[in-house]
Amino acid sequence: CGIVGYIGKRDVAPLLLEGLARLEYRGYDSAGMVITSPKSTGLKMVKAKGRVRDLEARVPKRFTGTTGIAHTRWATHGAPSDINSHPHLDPENKVAVVHNGIVDNADELRAKLEADGVVFASETDTEVITHLIARSQAETLEEKVREAVKVIEGTYGIAVMHADFNDRIVVARNGSPVILGIGEKEMLVASDVAALIAHTRQVVTLNDGEMATLKADDFRTYTTSGATTTATPETVEWEAASYDMGGHDTYMHKEISEQPDAVDRVLRGRIDDRFSTVHLGGLNLDAREARGIRRVKILGCGTSYHAGLIGAGLIESLARIPADSEPASEFRYRNPVVDPDTLYIAVSQSGETYDVLAAVQELKRKGARVLGVVNVVGSAIARETDGGVYVHAGPEVCVVSTKCFTNTVVAFALLALHLGRIRDLSVADGKRIIEGLRRLPAQISEILESEDEIKKLADEYADAKSMMFIGRVRGYPVALEASLKLKEISYIHAEAYPASELKHGPLALIEPALPTVAIVPDDELLEKNRAALEEIKARSGRILAVAHQEQEKADHTILVPKNEDELDPILMGIPLQLLAYHTALALGRDIDKPRNLAKSVTVE
Ligand code: G6P
Repeated sequence: CGIVGYIGKRDVAPLLLEGLARLEYRGYDSAGMVITSPKSTGLKMVKAKGRVRDLEARVPKRFTGTTGIAHTRWATHGAPSDINSHPHLDPENKVAVVHNGIVDNADELRAKLEADGVVFASETDTEVITHLIARSQAETLEEKVREAVKVIEGTYGIAVMHADFNDRIVVARNGSPVILGIGEKEMLVASDVAALIAHTRQVVTLNDGEMATLKADDFRTYTTSGATTTATPETVEWEAASYDMGGHDTYMHKEISEQPDAVDRVLRGRIDDRFSTVHLGGLNLDAREARGIRRVKILGCGTSYHAGLIGAGLIESLARIPADSEPASEFRYRNPVVDPDTLYIAVSQSGETYDVLAAVQELKRKGARVLGVVNVVGSAIARETDGGVYVHAGPEVCVVSTKCFTNTVVAFALLALHLGRIRDLSVADGKRIIEGLRRLPAQISEILESEDEIKKLADEYADAKSMMFIGRVRGYPVALEASLKLKEISYIHAEAYPASELKHGPLALIEPALPTVAIVPDDELLEKNRAALEEIKARSGRILAVAHQEQEKADHTILVPKNEDELDPILMGIPLQLLAYHTALALGRDIDKPRNLAKSVTVE
């Protein structure tokens, strides 16, 4: 979900709509806004099920004001509908609330309020907050909000307006991002810098348990118990232009194309040729500590989990530390053994994914050392971890991750190289990997040049009802990620298997109607992988290989340039992003905003 709010002198409705459009990628089954102005005594509201453009179409004439809060919603409590969309007002139209997150004790609070005679208009947990504020007897809006947040349990980022206090917006944060944008005689608030960057570069990120009051020419921050906090605005570096499509038809296409530059950025300034190693300034891990690590456990969700799988392979092969990756969402629910000699690494593009954050918090509580591999600077996971590596992919808007996946894997290669060179990786191997890393941007550009050919293949395979992806060892996470990408945006069923496991079950599925995409690098496993292709061909399965040389058993081969064996997975994933993209395009899917998915899931 996304929040945006503004208080200043400008006409607020168009400004909020533009902010919402920039947030839409995070969640989008309904949208709404409430506005007012210093002269007005009431709140004006409009909301709509659907996209921001549906809301725009509903905005009535003369819907003017200079203060407002707005929201795009991804349904958690209650189905998408006009009624369930935010903001939520009290029956007297005095209080308006927009909320990201989940109120865990909503049912209990709702029952209490209903017993007191409150009539609810919607099924949402957010409306509970509205009523709590509306019924508060406190004198100031700040105190009313403070009283409400004291009784709600769960996660929230909220922005509140009140008709009797229409010179301000009050916001509060616990677990869902709230970022203030500090302008000239105007203040903004949003759940994502994307909505602020067109107006100001000066931002303040609230901490959990912090609140703020925004007035047109002033803001202040304080804790939920009322103590003033100091907030020094920071300057965001991301360009407003990064959020535009820049001539591409979709953000996904733009982000795939940006990968040569993105990879160049994650490498920049980090390579140390003198010692054939890399410097990672934010790691906060000295050589002695690095030598003491007995295991590495990587945690992430979705695509980030897959990047973690490749990362674990890199750490194991370059640093010779046993490493594995697990979905953070699973880890946090299974009472894991937390071991003091294990280095934990949380991976997240957004840095806000709740399952990952919750895993980090649990680990920290148990005294573990946790690093972050994160894209969004200053995000919750970046701040909760003891140090880490920023992946510098730039803003990623398409719901499914492409450039950020690639950059995350490159960041892991840097980390693995760093750990390796502290431990047993030779200077010669360090140099070999560095040279390999430096070749990546040009090799990615070379792959992107074969887009037309990949598009033809996508058109040919787009009629498949289901697809199999196989890879072995380093190739297996590539298969997993390629299969996820295809299902997310094309809605074609796909599954990924280790090539070695084919004969233990999935071979039963092979028939001409089930194409297989096979990852076949020129490495020590080439012959084994070729044998898997033969097994498929013997059952008349169609094969699309991604390989370094033409595969005789395959119906089609996408050729990719060869790098070092350890780094090949980075390159082999890229044509499969284009394959998923063009398959979805051929099927007429909404590529940047696939159904039922959100860019970052900040709820449980
Ligand atoms: C959501 C998105 C996925 C993403 C995952 C993890 O489920 O739909 O595309 O991979 O979250 O996001 P993160 O921001 O933590 O990398």
